[in-house]
Amino acid sequence: MNSQPIGVFDSGVGGTSIWKEIQKLLPNENTIYLADSKNAPYGEKSQEEILQLSIKNTEFLLGEGCKIIVVACNTATTNAISYLRAHYTVPFIGIEPAIKPAALQSESKTVGVLATKGTLSSSLFHSTSGNHGNGIKIIEQEGTGLVPLIENGKIDSAETKELLNKYVGPMLDQGMDHLVLGCTHYPYLIPILKSILPAHVKIIDSGEAVARQVKAVLEKNAIINTTKNEAKHRLHTNVAPEVLKSFVEDVTANLQVEKLDF
Ligand code: SIN
Repeated sequence: MNSQPIGVFDSGVGGTSIWKEIQKLLPNENTIYLADSKNAPYGEKSQEEILQLSIKNTEFLLGEGCKIIVVACNTATTNAISYLRAHYTVPFIGIEPAIKPAALQSESKTVGVLATKGTLSSSLFHSTSGNHGNGIKIIEQEGTGLVPLIENGKIDSAETKELLNKYVGPMLDQGMDHLVLGCTHYPYLIPILKSILPAHVKIIDSGEAVARQVKAVLEKNAIINTTKNEAKHRLHTNVAPEVLKSFVEDVTANLQVEKLDF
């Protein structure tokens, strides 16, 4: 038994796509979610800024007694996770674009990756994206502008659809048959992407795999919560809480969403 919470942070609301998968797989676990929406998007910041924000978020979650931290942000993972793992003792789980399964399944041998500038320009992304077998072409596309639209609740807008068309069009022209979502905000765009992409193009995101990884690390470190009490979830944002609430209102668990100054 270990009822200390799982800490999850993101540059904003996008990491709730990961938090939901964790909550589904590990319903007994208490969680604390931190949405640093005031500083979103991280993807347009320098590596040093992303690192400092990731340290601040980590310190907050450790101060709340978290036993493991999920960096539910691809940009923070690629730019800060090595530092975090080296400087803190709790386990860290990061999010990397699921290029490997896409590359294994691709028949056209052409995989698109939609991610932020901060992720695509990081050395961790390049050291992990290059090893996926002979003949696989990886097309990288920056999703500039998408995160602010999602943060502002404009998922179903004409502007979002226009940007997505602009980004996926050239990847389709090059024969992409798998689109990897390399930002935890982007799973919220799946319904629009499905309306744009031809039926044979498969969309891949990392949410379920990350939840399985969290479970495996909790078990390995013997810190999984074996109590049967109803789990409690505290979600914090540093902007008006309505937007964060709208992203989790489909979840029926015992949760509390509040604004904090951090
Ligand atoms: C961002 O804040 O720019 C996106 C976060 C992510 O990469 O998941």
